[in-house]
Amino acid sequence: MVEDTSTAAPLKAPETGALTVPATRRGLLKGLLGALGVFGLGTFLYGVYRFLAPGAGGAEPVEIPVAEISASGTAFFQYGGTPGILLRGDDQTLKAFSLVCTHLACIVTWNAEKKEFYCPCHDGFFDAEGRVVSGPPPSPLERWKVEIKGDKAIIGAA
Ligand code: FES
Repeated sequence: MVEDTSTAAPLKAPETGALTVPATRRGLLKGLLGALGVFGLGTFLYGVYRFLAPGAGGAEPVEIPVAEISASGTAFFQYGGTPGILLRGDDQTLKAFSLVCTHLACIVTWNAEKKEFYCPCHDGFFDAEGRVVSGPPPSPLERWKVEIKGDKAIIGAA
């Protein structure tokens, strides 16, 4: 004879206050789904945070020796997993930009002769300050703080 376990009462919690163990498969399944729900919500909220604060989220600052900046005034790096470029302007100041287009996240290229960024996906153009010149991008390229310490440029310094 097979015993029906779906109506079995859950185990009683011991007097010590320890967690109860579901006595049925249904109870175990509910517990697992609940745990997955909490994990999924946490993952979703972290994704929203990363979207709203790109380049931040605890990314370590990037150090680039100033001597590594090319003759054309550029150096490439990754900041928090995002590709970026360090540019030396005509006034010798250093500026750092994300190379991720603000339209649909294609990677933009830098044209040193024309001093502009170009996004090949939908013909988006940005000027040397990262501002939108033409095309569908809704906002400027993300710009990161640059600080000079000794012979290094520190990108993303607090
Ligand atoms: S993704 Fe850059 S213009 Fe569309």
